[in-house]
Amino acid sequence: MPTLLQQRRSLGVVLCQRDAYTSMHCGRVEYLCRLLGLACELNSHERSLLRVASRLHDIGKIGIADDVLFKKSQLDDAEWEIMKRHSELGQTICEAIPHANASQLGTIVRHHHEAFDGSGYPDGLSGTEIPVCSRIISLADSYDAMTTDRPYQKAIPHEKAMAIMRSEKGSKSDPRLFGYFVKIMAALAERPGFSSIGGGLSS
Ligand SMILES: [Fe+2]
Repeated sequence: MPTLLQQRRSLGVVLCQRDAYTSMHCGRVEYLCRLLGLACELNSHERSLLRVASRLHDIGKIGIADDVLFKKSQLDDAEWEIMKRHSELGQTICEAIPHANASQLGTIVRHHHEAFDGSGYPDGLSGTEIPVCSRIISLADSYDAMTTDRPYQKAIPHEKAMAIMRSEKGSKSDPRLFGYFVKIMAALAERPGFSSIGGGLSS
């Protein structure tokens, strides 16, 4: 039976064929999550789940219709509700992977848009009800979403993204994990030529 990493690779190819932007986003999020998993002292089982889940966190977008997925302006409320289904679709896809850890993987993917204060989706989980790997993915996802160009939104600079994330500490993000994120980003920002993960470093 293929390993989870091998399954991740083939689903990554599927995602890249469907939506190259999202695939590159997932690659950058995986890169940050690997650093965060080490910094947060996750055990090796959690780190391997985090690696696969971060690469596949948006795999559910392959099931979102083109007119929503590739819309070049802001989504309206109805379209946004359709887009939000990607986390549950992602869980369904991950649970179909023939592997003993598929269910755990699906749970992590399902909850990557939950918020620490319970205001996220799809289930409104809060605090440590949200799987730790989902909370880590959420941090990396937020940073990458802000610091890379999207069809309807220009990238913002690293410092501005960090300031926004600081303001969301405890509401959107886990304050303890955000502390690790700050340390990692401070170390990355010291690298020559850094501007942001998307703009300044390869993933
Ligand atoms: Fe997502």
